[in-house]
Amino acid sequence: MQTVLVTGGAGYIGSHTCHMLIENGYNVIVIDSLENGHREHLPEQVRFYKEDLNNFEKINTIFEGNEIDAVIHFAGYIEAGESMQDPIKFFQNNVSNSINLIKAMKNNNVRNIVFSSSAGVYGQPEEMPIKETAKKKPTNYYGLTKLMFEQILDSAKVYNMQSICLRYFNAAGAGYNIGEKHNPETHLIPLILQVATGERNNIKIFGTDYPTPDGTCIRDYIHVLDLAKAHIKALHLLDRNIKGKFNVGTGKGNSVKEIINICREVTQHTIPAEECPRREGDPPELVADSNKFKEFDWQPEHSIRDIIQSAWDWHSLQKQT
Ligand SMILES: NC(=O)c1ccc[n+]([C@@H]2O[C@H](COP(=O)([O-])OP(=O)(O)OC[C@H]3O[C@@H](n4cnc5c(N)ncnc54)[C@H](O)[C@@H]3O)[C@@H](O)[C@H]2O)c1
Repeated sequence: MQTVLVTGGAGYIGSHTCHMLIENGYNVIVIDSLENGHREHLPEQVRFYKEDLNNFEKINTIFEGNEIDAVIHFAGYIEAGESMQDPIKFFQNNVSNSINLIKAMKNNNVRNIVFSSSAGVYGQPEEMPIKETAKKKPTNYYGLTKLMFEQILDSAKVYNMQSICLRYFNAAGAGYNIGEKHNPETHLIPLILQVATGERNNIKIFGTDYPTPDGTCIRDYIHVLDLAKAHIKALHLLDRNIKGKFNVGTGKGNSVKEIINICREVTQHTIPAEECPRREGDPPELVADSNKFKEFDWQPEHSIRDIIQSAWDWHSLQKQT
């Protein structure tokens, strides 16, 4: 039985992945500061350490005290907009604190790491769908921190480490009776569903004059369970010494207006929308070409409707309890 150390395991994508790892027979150790995570979203079988990656000594001691076969590194700050207001906060956590993790891996001869990278490494590519070979020109510091850490992981091959960087597009949906709960919430689907639960009055649409069929931005939404499955696939690939950088999306884009309409159908709520000017730095369209990863027998199974239905099942339950 393999033991996987999951950083940021109490966060949205991390907690879903922990459930799937347990279901697939892994021993799971989680390090999370709980700054943005939820302890109660973790399966009870995980060994949990409430620690911050900024504390190298503590992290190294956790490695010394456990036989760790591989690491999945989710921990980090995720808000692209905030990264433009406070870039150092992002470099400190997403780069510097992440280096502590590599140092602890190196000290304890742990070779394999799966890293949560992002479509943010590309910026605004001209060609859609986006291939891994597209130019990397992040338009915000968040995306830059992801690109920097990918490069740092490349350098770690001199220590005999190998990595898979999964460049996620837009994670959404829910499973295992847990769901998406960022604070503050900035992701489109939970924000729309908060209108349906009465937690906000309307949903703001930023920009209706983009060069897209209905004028609103198009994104590639991937079910969090399909993402979780991608991490298990990545662990298998590292076991076979296959490494690299892979897009993880569905290859299908949906506009903001399309997402709002599906949410209206699923929730049976009118969900008032307010049209607002564009936000700076929002690319009109981001859709993944994930064929490179699909070659390894991974396929997203969930449609956009499944994603929204699962998110609604969870959100409406939260409201009741
Ligand atoms: N959600 C998305 O759509 C998306 C898209 C692309 C990439 N990503 C990346 O995936 C990863 C997970 O995203 P998420 O949506 O689950 O975010 P999240 O904020 O829900 O989870 C991140 C977790 O990391 C923990 N954490 C942060 N800094 C830490 C530190 N220094 N030490 C210990 N724990 C720390 C937080 O407490 C939180 O539980 C992030 O790295 C994010 O950049 C997410």
